[in-house]
Amino acid sequence: MNRLDNKVAVITGGTSGIGLATAHEFVAQGASVLVTGRTQESVAKVAAELGERGYGIVSDTGSLSDIRALPQAVAAHFPQIDILFINAGIAKFTPIADVTEAIFDESMTPNFKGAYFTIQALLPLLRDGSSIILNTSVNAHMGVANASLYAASKAALLSLSRNLSAELLPRRIRVNAISPGPVATPLHSAAKLGISAEQLRQMDESTVKQVPLGRYGTPEEIARAALFFASDDSSFVLGAELIVDGGMITL
Ligand SMILES: NC(=O)c1ccc[n+]([C@@H]2O[C@H](COP(=O)([O-])OP(=O)(O)OC[C@H]3O[C@@H](n4cnc5c(N)ncnc54)[C@H](OP(=O)(O)O)[C@@H]3O)[C@@H](O)[C@H]2O)c1
Repeated sequence: MNRLDNKVAVITGGTSGIGLATAHEFVAQGASVLVTGRTQESVAKVAAELGERGYGIVSDTGSLSDIRALPQAVAAHFPQIDILFINAGIAKFTPIADVTEAIFDESMTPNFKGAYFTIQALLPLLRDGSSIILNTSVNAHMGVANASLYAASKAALLSLSRNLSAELLPRRIRVNAISPGPVATPLHSAAKLGISAEQLRQMDESTVKQVPLGRYGTPEEIARAALFFASDDSSFVLGAELIVDGGMITL
């Protein structure tokens, strides 16, 4: 017996890194999984990789019209869902002095606004007793230069996990958060982080020193934390946060 037999999961940003590893974990545990991403090419590739219980939907979490179209695209495959993993997000680091309104929106729109309205849009499809998992970050707890926007977008998600757990109590929908420390994914490139190659090298060097386990986590290690919240193993857990960071902020 698998832990997610007969469950249906939606994973936003399921085409790479943590979302992709979680899609594989959920399918291996018996679920049907719909992943979103921004291009037809990326979602089709992942759907094919996942096999007959994998589905891809093109949806930009930074676009309200895409979010509004998402329920219909999901319902074309399944009338109801049991698990929603809000994972799509970007990490851009900018000094406050350089932040323009466009740079502010570039982070806040997918990471918080998109997350918020995706949950709102999919609520009618979420079965009573279902599980919503929010992918935040240890940055929500830390003071790191140039990380103010990213950290604030993730702190907002942490707040959502508690407030929406309270609000959705009548439907027994549990909302929990995972806060990863540094994880080895394609996110850690100079282009995606908006920094130079030399800044990336320095960042990697200092990050590893800050992790008591002395390494980056793997996407599969975060996927297993998501599996805990997705499955009935966490049936008495709501409004909670699981920090998965090799001891970075707790030791
Ligand atoms: N890696 C880490 O160290 C780390 C640590 C803490 C938290 N996190 C969080 O974990 C989540 C996943 O990160 P990752 O490291 O796995 O990064 P990644 O490998 O860059 O993957 C990001 C995923 O999000 C999707 N995405 C980005 N913007 C999107 C948008 N506007 N609409 C739809 N999908 C979008 C990407 O899909 P397409 O490019 O195909 O559109 C991709 O599937 C993020 O929320 C990140 O903040 C990561």
